[in-house]
Amino acid sequence: MLWQHVRTLRFKLTFLHVLIFGVILSILSVVVLTVWEANVLASVDERLQDRADSALDSIERAANEGRDQPLTEGVQPQLRALRQSRYYFQLRSATGESIIRSPNLRNVRLPLPSDLNSVKTKKKQVIETISGSDIARLLGADGQMRVLTRYCEVPGVLPFVLQVGLNMGTFNTSRSSLRQIFLMVVPVGLLLAGVASWLLARRSLSPIRRIAREAQALTAAQLDRRMPPPDAMDEVGEMVVTVNQMLDRLEDAFRAQERFVADAAHELKTPVAVVIGGAQVIAQKERTPTEYNRFLVGLLDEMRRLNQMVDSLLTLARADAGMPLIGAEEVSINEIVADVVQRWQPLAQQKSVRLVASLAMPTGEEPEPLVLGDPELLDSMVGNLVQNGVRYSPEGEAVDVEVRLVARSARITVRDRGPGIPPEHLDRVFERFYRVPRVESGGGSGTGLGLAIAKGVTRLHKGSIHVANRDSGGCEFVVELPLVATT
Ligand SMILES: Nc1ncnc2c1ncn2[C@@H]1O[C@H](COP(=O)(O)OP(=O)(O)OP(=O)(O)O)[C@@H](O)[C@H]1O
Ligand SMILES: [Mg+2]
Repeated sequence: MLWQHVRTLRFKLTFLHVLIFGVILSILSVVVLTVWEANVLASVDERLQDRADSALDSIERAANEGRDQPLTEGVQPQLRALRQSRYYFQLRSATGESIIRSPNLRNVRLPLPSDLNSVKTKKKQVIETISGSDIARLLGADGQMRVLTRYCEVPGVLPFVLQVGLNMGTFNTSRSSLRQIFLMVVPVGLLLAGVASWLLARRSLSPIRRIAREAQALTAAQLDRRMPPPDAMDEVGEMVVTVNQMLDRLEDAFRAQERFVADAAHELKTPVAVVIGGAQVIAQKERTPTEYNRFLVGLLDEMRRLNQMVDSLLTLARADAGMPLIGAEEVSINEIVADVVQRWQPLAQQKSVRLVASLAMPTGEEPEPLVLGDPELLDSMVGNLVQNGVRYSPEGEAVDVEVRLVARSARITVRDRGPGIPPEHLDRVFERFYRVPRVESGGGSGTGLGLAIAKGVTRLHKGSIHVANRDSGGCEFVVELPLVATT
């Protein structure tokens, strides 16, 4: 359960926010503390130096006035003032013996820095924070003192070491309060940031949850369901629109598939039913050889039809959208049309239909109408158009098949003088299994797949196919296929 939460985008977003915020707050706290400490220490050191300067002034003055004991006499007034102060004072000889101390030091001596020699020679002055048993006796267990140690040479006086100390208690208390404040503020800040991010993430992600719920509810039976339109066109809004568009396309594809399967099943069932029916009748009793023969001829007919339909379905499946042409070659459209026309000639003659081919005549400038494609598929496409022309033409009329070069395409036109296609059906004749319902039963037993195949094949060859009724009667199919690039 908890693990499920941890894997949500909402948790990850919140975690990331809190993490970033935490890092920023921590860095900020450390920086503020460090700067504050450095500033306070600088001002402490300044005050220590002031004190040391003024003590040195007094000693110099005492020396100038010719006092016997310029050191003790010079600092005496200051030492008296230091009885209750946080400041401490001590003079030592250059060799380190204590000469005089402020009374608040009682019997404790301010320790000398470890490198007293370097104080004497180079730096002259050292300021450091000191703790230890001596300081602890004076200020308590955690006591710390900031101590300035300066090596001084005053004319008329032996060199000496001057030490001024300041109790760091106040500084330390302020520092630990400040630390405590930060230690409290950071977790509280993080908690607030966490809650705010959690709520914000929930708000921003709620449409996505809704989309997920809707998508879960989608089934094949409810393909028309859509997400409610978004309130704003932000990223999530765009996603909702995109998902809805995708559902539109899915629904279209699914419906087409459904129609196709239903139609295919229906069409395949008819010949099978005819064969079964016929066989049942034949099997009822002993038949004469003539009767068996008639039955077998009928059976053969139905089987041929079935075979043709399965071929058509396979061609359609091959030509279906998106499938690239495998093993495409340069195909002469002239040759294809000539072949098809020759093949259909006997049937046309049977129906007294004149089937006339008019091929493109490549001149010196015009190339041969070559198309990159699959010759079998192209043959089946032209074949279907010619077959329709012959099938739907009344006796004695002509079907013209023409090949022309137009710009960068080969154009194939098939014209007939048949009944034409009623305008309200023009859009649908390319659909699979679609046949124009006709009062006069001209055309016989087609499957309604021919034009769907023609369209599939042209699409596969990146071409186009259109149909229009002719003013003079009949209809005209125009296919345009891009020529092989000559460069
Ligand atoms: N040249 C034409 N003249 C009139 N109607 C046509 C013509 N070509 C096609 N049609 C109409 O369009 C419909 C679809 O044609 P399509 O070629 O797809 O199927 P079909 O010819 O009925 O069957 P088949 O699958 O055997 O080709 C036909 O049923 C017919 O009504
Ligand atoms: Mg047809």
